[in-house]
Amino acid sequence: MKLKFVLAAALLAVGLSATAQTIIKFSHVVAADTPKGKASVFFAQKAAELTKGKVKVEVYANSALYKDKEEMEALQIGSVQMLAPSLAKFGPLGVKDFEAFDLPFMFDSYAELHKVTQGPEGAALLAKLEPKGIKGLAYWDNGFKSFSANSPLKAPADFKGKKFRIQSSKVLEEQIRSVGGIPQVMAFSEVYQALQTGVVDGTENPISNFYTQKMHEVQKHMTLTDHGYLGYAVITNKKFWDGLPADVRGQLEQAMKEATVYANQIAKEENDKSLEGVKKSGKTTVYTPTAEERLALKKAMAPVHLKMADRIGKGTLQQFYKATGFDPAKL
Ligand code: LMR
Repeated sequence: MKLKFVLAAALLAVGLSATAQTIIKFSHVVAADTPKGKASVFFAQKAAELTKGKVKVEVYANSALYKDKEEMEALQIGSVQMLAPSLAKFGPLGVKDFEAFDLPFMFDSYAELHKVTQGPEGAALLAKLEPKGIKGLAYWDNGFKSFSANSPLKAPADFKGKKFRIQSSKVLEEQIRSVGGIPQVMAFSEVYQALQTGVVDGTENPISNFYTQKMHEVQKHMTLTDHGYLGYAVITNKKFWDGLPADVRGQLEQAMKEATVYANQIAKEENDKSLEGVKKSGKTTVYTPTAEERLALKKAMAPVHLKMADRIGKGTLQQFYKATGFDPAKL
């Protein structure tokens, strides 16, 4: 009799905890073996640990659930609870201040970048997502982008007439146009094939994305320009987040804090490892520009800052320049 009671109580407890488990679908478009891929798995493990299994985070890498624009819509309607889109994805959503992150040569180092992302300006930008039903939780780094193509890219003139795949971003469009290239907006999951078939001639990426998408198989040249930043905002559906029990939300915030430290610690290391991989493959010739060559590209692209200033918002831009010390008018 007593045993039956204990068994029934145990079954009830298991049943209750099973029904009480919250599932967070975390979707992203890049490979598992990238800074974002690894940090999202780290977050899932921490969330399980800190909530003692009350929350299960399911990570879907490589556009397995959604790609590009679709994933943002899915988050807003609540079909997926968490994403880490690149910061470039918020301009098309109407929050144009984020386009400041896309501006060429805005940051020369992670240290300059962190003054924005880890300071009050970064928090103020995330708050601008709330009217869209989105709660911003953290910034995760990837790294600085390099250009690739099937012919060498050393001087601005080498970009002329070539088609470059970019993410959907008015700033990135202008960046490509500033050197006479032709911008082609395309979902990340389609880039490899577009390069392979010659639909586009080149692209821009941090090396971790380039290598894990095997773009080195279909691009003969890469120049380590570090001309722009690619990073992410981890975001969640605001209604979902606000509806979580306060203790669980607190535990998830802690898990996110730890995942963010991890993400930003591994970003450079992962990109360096991928660069080694690209070099070892022997398929893409990797070129490091001289200081003069890099400066020539910077000068050619500087007008993009002035051209896009009204669109992005001069107030936001001044905050960025204050943090980074960059002054496009002085080039
Ligand atoms: C891209 O489309 O190039 C990026 O958004 C991919 C990424 O790193 O999320």
